Amino acid sequence: MKSLVTASDNITLGLGPKKCHIITFGCQMNEYDSQTMAQLLKDEYQPTAFIEEADLILINTCSIRQKAEHKLYSLLGRLKALKKKKPNLKIGVAGCVAQQLGNKLFEKMPHVDLVIGPQGLYKLPELLKALENGIKHVSETALASDFKIPFVNAPLPKSGQVRGFVTIMQGCDNFCTYCIVPYVRGRETSRPSNDILNEIESLIKQGVKDITLLGQNVNSYGKKGPHKDISFPKLLTLIDKNFGKDIRLRFTTSHPKDLSDELIDCFVELKSLCEHLHLPVQSGSDKILKAMNRHYKIEHYLEKVNRLRKICPEITITTDIIVGFPGESHDDFLRTLDLLKTVRFDQAFAFKYSERPGTAAEAFKNKIPEEIKSERLTTLLELQNQIGLEQYKKMETKTVKVLIESHQGKKLVGRTRGNHIVNLTGNEELVGRLLNVYIERACHHSLNGIIVH
Ligand code: 5AD
Ligand code: SF4
Repeated sequence: MKSLVTASDNITLGLGPKKCHIITFGCQMNEYDSQTMAQLLKDEYQPTAFIEEADLILINTCSIRQKAEHKLYSLLGRLKALKKKKPNLKIGVAGCVAQQLGNKLFEKMPHVDLVIGPQGLYKLPELLKALENGIKHVSETALASDFKIPFVNAPLPKSGQVRGFVTIMQGCDNFCTYCIVPYVRGRETSRPSNDILNEIESLIKQGVKDITLLGQNVNSYGKKGPHKDISFPKLLTLIDKNFGKDIRLRFTTSHPKDLSDELIDCFVELKSLCEHLHLPVQSGSDKILKAMNRHYKIEHYLEKVNRLRKICPEITITTDIIVGFPGESHDDFLRTLDLLKTVRFDQAFAFKYSERPGTAAEAFKNKIPEEIKSERLTTLLELQNQIGLEQYKKMETKTVKVLIESHQGKKLVGRTRGNHIVNLTGNEELVGRLLNVYIERACHHSLNGIIVH
């Protein structure tokens, strides 16, 4: 059984005698955490893509929507039989579901040996030792209340890896009423800028050429933590100054309320900063945005988008949308469709509202029935697919710089500065190269091109 969602393919780290299989659900932040776990285990474990040969299976979970939680339970159910066949197999659950359920997970799933929340990752080797010493169920799910969250050093990229990710902050203090993140990832804490610069330098030394700065709300970088630090635009400027000629720079995720003019200006002033912004809007209705505790109105969101496009016309703008939030009327939903038509996002990630335990919206009245949520999602995706394709079609017949990221046989996959995925044909040696590519055809979510010599 080769698992469907696995980070092990990305992880080549590890020299140890034992074998470890890491499965990742959810976001880039989780991918990063999985690589960090592999890094922490590298003296004892080497990664394997095959779950049957693992001595340790780690599942890095996501609890942002209920669906991800269900996937965890069905996977754990399947692992029960494997554990019966191999009693020495250790099974660990990490990430947001681990944080949310803590020791309750052992009651539901007694064949799980270890539970570790996102802030406790650095204790993984210690907890595994405790298991080896015969302790049955071990866990670490305390949430720091005093910003003393240790940031573990960057996971090493595998050789030839073109993209790298650097966490610049953890947690979130925004408390959007639908969102579980502040409860499972704790208070917002920024990482010292020096550590970030050092980590970027080490990624570049290992050949990484496209770096994404990660955080739940990167725009408020520097404001909270054990020591105040420079602002986010200043951090970007510093990175550009030191490493701009070696890398393409990106960041995610931004909160519209914190997107300052200074940050918008960075898209023209900093050469390494790529022309793509992921700016989750969530809804097109001011009434729903207020109920979501988002702290902006559509008018303000549109002002920011207009300013961005005015100073940087080629910028790609993507977003997240939730449909069927409690109290969302048909009229509110139509406003969201109108917003899509007005902004014309290059891509939108749309989700049905999913009730999360402990969030404010859990107690809201006027919940939307599942079938209406599904209908709205289908309508929205149909509209966005059409808009997205029209946006992508604007790339046709252009010649653009594409950084080649991976290959499978003669098929290469690369990325434009605007974050479009480009499929082309060429040799493996081209991975890591920046090529001029003529865009022949746009598809939904990707482009087909040919190399221009
Ligand atoms: N239900 C549905 N979607 C959610 N998101 C966050 N919480 C929920 C929820 N409870 C979406 C938001 C966010 C993205 C990462 O996930 O759109 O931007
Ligand atoms: Fe969740 Fe809102 Fe924080 Fe994003 S900004 S992680 S949606 S609480």
